[in-house]
Amino acid sequence: MSSSKPRIGIIGTGYVGLVSGACFANLGFPVTCLDVVPDKVEKINRAEPPIFENGLDAMLTKVVREENLLHATLDRVETINSSDLIFICLPTPSEEDGSINLRFITEEAKEIGRVLATIDDFKTIVVKSTVVPGTTSGVIKDLLEEYSGKKAGLDFGLAMNPEFLMEGLAISNFTDPDRVVIGAIDDRSFQAVAQLYESFDCPIQRTTTSAAEMIKYASNSFLATKISFINEIANISEQLGIDVGQVAEGMGTDSRISSRFLRAGIGFGGSCFPKDVKALYAVSKAIGHESNILKATLQTNKTQPLRVVQMVNDMIELKGKTVALLGLAFKPETDDMREAPSIAIASSLKSKGAIVKGYDPIAKETAEIAIPDIIHCQSLQMAVEDADVIILVTEWDEFKNLQPKQLEKMSGNIIIDGRRVLNKELFSNAGFKIKILGQN
Ligand code: UDX
Repeated sequence: MSSSKPRIGIIGTGYVGLVSGACFANLGFPVTCLDVVPDKVEKINRAEPPIFENGLDAMLTKVVREENLLHATLDRVETINSSDLIFICLPTPSEEDGSINLRFITEEAKEIGRVLATIDDFKTIVVKSTVVPGTTSGVIKDLLEEYSGKKAGLDFGLAMNPEFLMEGLAISNFTDPDRVVIGAIDDRSFQAVAQLYESFDCPIQRTTTSAAEMIKYASNSFLATKISFINEIANISEQLGIDVGQVAEGMGTDSRISSRFLRAGIGFGGSCFPKDVKALYAVSKAIGHESNILKATLQTNKTQPLRVVQMVNDMIELKGKTVALLGLAFKPETDDMREAPSIAIASSLKSKGAIVKGYDPIAKETAEIAIPDIIHCQSLQMAVEDADVIILVTEWDEFKNLQPKQLEKMSGNIIIDGRRVLNKELFSNAGFKIKILGQN
């Protein structure tokens, strides 16, 4: 029986594409996921998530195995023919100068155009990848029209529907968003996308494709700037003998500020904040309006991870000493090492002659690839054994609940808390020299 619900194609099964596809299928929409990696396609069709994301395995079991609503394929023609809307969820990495690299997107637009040239029924192409303002209505529309010989709006729909998914929380962010933003070239394209979200009880904003693209960049850049701001306040507070935690508490109770994304630490990592701020900053320079704020946000974030190295350096000579990094992933609840602060920290410690060990509860293979030249430990105990110093880098629950007796096998007694989650008094009373970033 053909479903009355519109059929959805997802191109790219990274954490945005696969989470979006699974969540759309969970809403009852038939979903076809396209990828170019056979192993990924096979895993998805066995309901085995190729990425680490809370709840994704259960959701794939439901929509792949039980309801047969989602399947993956290597075949682009099949994907487009069996979909009414096609979401582009491909990576948009950074160039050396920080500007956006659109090669995956432009190649895909050509390929989709080639398929559209061979079919008559109306499809709506929806960009979900993070692309700089003007991309959807510019190069993407141009390539779709050129390679299909058809007209956007007349022969196919075109929209931009940004994602606001946080790794580790991506499913709940998709199913219960603060808002849905839909940029569209015309009413038909808007309605095609809006119908997918009609069961959502959040604001559905209709705008232009360029404004939708800017909403994504401006949102991520604001959050990143908020983090760099509180990190600078932490660095100043530390010198003045003030605990930035107290400052953030007093700021966060102002509803205009809110306490979210106001946790000082060793800075932001991940596949989005660094890349998106760099891309928007590059756009600002390209149009001759260089953003001082974005430049400062990036500069602060570049030096912030190294503050924990400086804190150790101020206490002991690092050469020949063993330093254990607790946590390597860019944040808890993920194995993602992209732009993780641990990478810069490990590199700086090694440049000062330290022996570096690292342990992360989840990021193991990914960490060994990202930081190959440190000693990777399989447990907390193995990491702290014979360590002169431990540095808390990622605030996993396992480390938030750290107790002094777990550190008995350390050879030294220095603790540096880069994520401000340890109790200073507890470890001081146990004879440790503990320093917490942003606290004197
Ligand atoms: C982010 C955005 O939140 C999300 O909306 C967007 O779609 C993708 O990028 P993500 O990168 O998964 O999501 O992680 P997030 O939880 O936002 O944290 C990003 C970085 O900021 C992490 O390195 C985290 O440690 C750091 N951070 C976050 C802080 O240093 N302080 C905070 O208060 C919050």
